[in-house]
Amino acid sequence: MKFFVDSAEIDLIAELAEIGIVDGVTTNPSLILKSGRDIIEVTREICDLVSGPVSAEVTALEAGEMIEQGRRLAGIAPNIAVKVPLTWEGLKACRALSGEGKMVNVTLCFSANQALLAAKAGAAFISPFIGRLDDINLDGLQLIADIRQIYDNYRFETEVLAASIRSANHVSECAKIGADIVTVPPAVLKGLVKHPLTDRGLDAFLRDWAKTGQKIA
Ligand code: G3P
Repeated sequence: MKFFVDSAEIDLIAELAEIGIVDGVTTNPSLILKSGRDIIEVTREICDLVSGPVSAEVTALEAGEMIEQGRRLAGIAPNIAVKVPLTWEGLKACRALSGEGKMVNVTLCFSANQALLAAKAGAAFISPFIGRLDDINLDGLQLIADIRQIYDNYRFETEVLAASIRSANHVSECAKIGADIVTVPPAVLKGLVKHPLTDRGLDAFLRDWAKTGQKIA
């Protein structure tokens, strides 16, 4: 499973990229606002940092303008994936942009039928939002499982990019289901490595090692 960082904050992305666990990045208008940066400049910097797919989202509502914005965003770097919303206009833009050989990430997906439409429109990625479904007492992980089953039934090449990840459990459950990618907020991604028994066990090993008086020279 690939790990994408869900952020437009350069320092956080750089820290994780240095560890070597970043396969891509996703941004959206809210994350651009949070970064306080110009979308073109910050997206270009992210593409210089990460060689995998970097999603940048259009803000138009009509297909024609979405396509124009998508071409501008795709022109930033070869690894740009243009993000379009899961609407009829977004699907029209997806069909056009994917037809031009551009990667398209169809976002704001909340149902299996929406995901089916995105795959048929030639999406490279589908972004179902787990956390926001959980927020209204629906089952976000069940949507990932449903999309996985449908895409496997018809051998769609669209990759399932699980988004709106709120916890480490979301990550492991997506891996068990078979999501292709999870896009994870930096804090959640950094937290994946933590376990209290690991910390406790390491402390004990080092205390005992100190008692040996030895060094590994
Ligand atoms: O990639 C989509 C993600 O940024 C949305 O997350 O927590 O705002 O639902 P959230």
